Amino acid sequence: MFGGRKTLCLISGIVVSVWSLASSLPAISNGADFVGNSGCKCHMGKGCFEGEEYKERLHSNTWEKRLKGTPDAENPDCLKCHATAYGEKIAEVGKKYLPNVQCEACHGAGSEYKKLKENFQGKGKDAFKELLKKDPFEARKVQFDAGLIVAGINGPATVKEQCLTCHWENKDDKNKCPKTDKVMDYKDYFKKDDHRDEDEIDVLIKKLSPEDKKKWAALLPKDEILNTPLKPKKKE
Ligand code: HEC
Ligand code: HEC
Ligand code: HEC
Repeated sequence: MFGGRKTLCLISGIVVSVWSLASSLPAISNGADFVGNSGCKCHMGKGCFEGEEYKERLHSNTWEKRLKGTPDAENPDCLKCHATAYGEKIAEVGKKYLPNVQCEACHGAGSEYKKLKENFQGKGKDAFKELLKKDPFEARKVQFDAGLIVAGINGPATVKEQCLTCHWENKDDKNKCPKTDKVMDYKDYFKKDDHRDEDEIDVLIKKLSPEDKKKWAALLPKDEILNTPLKPKKKE
């Protein structure tokens, strides 16, 4: 299970550095396949924070609302920001991109992550949930090893860096949408897009001893913005 970890880190290291040189490819690739939001359905159901709120956000409509039915619907210059996984490995045969800014645009290709949630160590769909209860940090490590990306922890060093792959803070930015002069006000945009809630890990992080903080350093938030207050948990 953990044998592949070094390779995975190595691969993602290379991908990240290539990606920061070529700002034309914002989607994060981690060697897995992009499965689309249907693969994230545990998070998308009713009662689930991410799902309910996401559907009302502009990210869920960046292709439908802005490109669909226009001459730019398939334009790579637009798809790199208004769609997900353009030019990447998509599980569904024949698809060149996934419409809109989907979960995987920020959290990385999800096929391996999905597999472990559905059938961790071949022990069925409850096995991962059990691990999550028994040993949340180990569970998070397993998720990250499977390619799950969280900006400010194991992905882009800061959340803002991730946002800036598609947004810009001044009008002269080269990496800017040709159709609007609106600029990102980071704090305001983060607040609007914030879908964190207080989960098992967040509660435990607060209680970690200094030794455990060292042990789990790779899994802890490094970006200050992630220490801002969380919304209370809504799930289950
Ligand atoms: C660098 C990323 C990026 C690229 C490339 C890009 N867009 Fe955008 N686009 C955005 C973002 C981000 C916004 C929203 C800006 C905001 O609200 O702060 C936006 C907004 C828009 C809007 C709404 C403008 C308005 O009136 O509010 C349209 C329409 C649009 N884009 C079309 C396109 C088309 C067509 C292309 C290709 C020719 C394109 N975009 C390329 C990121 C991009
Ligand atoms: C625009 C980028 C972006 C998109 C799109 C996105 N996320 Fe996130 N997500 C983030 C960031 C940044 C965080 C904050 C990191 C953290 O929680 O530590 C986060 C955190 C999370 C968390 C952890 C929440 C918590 O309680 O700590 C979950 C679960 C999550 N996202 C699920 C989703 C799902 C499901 C979707 C699609 C419906 C999605 N995300 C779409 C950027 C994104
Ligand atoms: C893959 C590209 C992409 C990434 C990464 C991304 N965005 Fe966006 N975002 C867009 C596009 C495209 C729009 C334009 C939506 C529209 O107007 O159609 C948008 C719109 C928004 C809006 C709505 C703005 C408004 O006018 O109300 C907010 C808020 C936002 N993004 C926040 C963020 C934050 C915070 C991050 C980083 C965690 C982020 N985005 C990362 C592409 C992206």
